[in-house]
Amino acid sequence: MFKGVLFDLDGVLTDTAEYHYQAWQRLGKEIGITIDRAFNEELKGVSREDSLKLLLAHGGRAQDFDSEQFAELAKRKNEYYVEMIQEVSPADVYPGILNLLKDLKKQGIKISLASASKNGPFLLERMSLLPYFDGIADPADVAKGKPDPEIFQLAAEKVGLTVRDCIGIEDAKAGIQAILASGALPIGVGRPEDLGTDIVLVSSTKELTVDLLVSVWQTARN
Ligand code: BG6
Ligand code: MG
Repeated sequence: MFKGVLFDLDGVLTDTAEYHYQAWQRLGKEIGITIDRAFNEELKGVSREDSLKLLLAHGGRAQDFDSEQFAELAKRKNEYYVEMIQEVSPADVYPGILNLLKDLKKQGIKISLASASKNGPFLLERMSLLPYFDGIADPADVAKGKPDPEIFQLAAEKVGLTVRDCIGIEDAKAGIQAILASGALPIGVGRPEDLGTDIVLVSSTKELTVDLLVSVWQTARN
């Protein structure tokens, strides 16, 4: 049986993926780059700096900013984002998540955070979810972000597990690639058009129960 669950945050525990999108859109507009939801799928799960690189390349402006200007743009996007998440509260936790965390805890299954976001601990705190997490992988401690597996490996390590014994839950293409590369078992939250058809997907976090996780594990690993 699996011994741990490695959670992505934005778009899995709550709707902050939407705020990231809005913050990138706002920044993009200021520098003449328009983005839509289809392009945003490429940004999901990707670190702040890597997202900015993708945004600039998308707008054909990859060469237009020196490193100081690049850092200012990344900072500005984060300021827009941080402004939007100030009022996040326990009411914003996605349906089914709290019960899942409680049930996992009851069964002694470790819970760890594998988010690329440096705002992760702040959000867990705002949503009163911190006490459920046995470990948090700090994205500042990994050399390569998603789709590289490192953050999932670190999240498993933080709770004393090997990644093979864990399930990873993600809403982003880059995140699912990272889980697959790490050796954990992925469950995706989202649409097959965005996330593919080769892994188990749920369309809503409501479907994420311990029973579902057990059955996905048994089907894949036994
Ligand atoms: C991921 C989001 O969780 O965190 C990305 O899906 C975001 O959209 C990344 O870019 C980094 O977040 P932050 O808060 O450190 O800029
Ligand atoms: Mg996400």
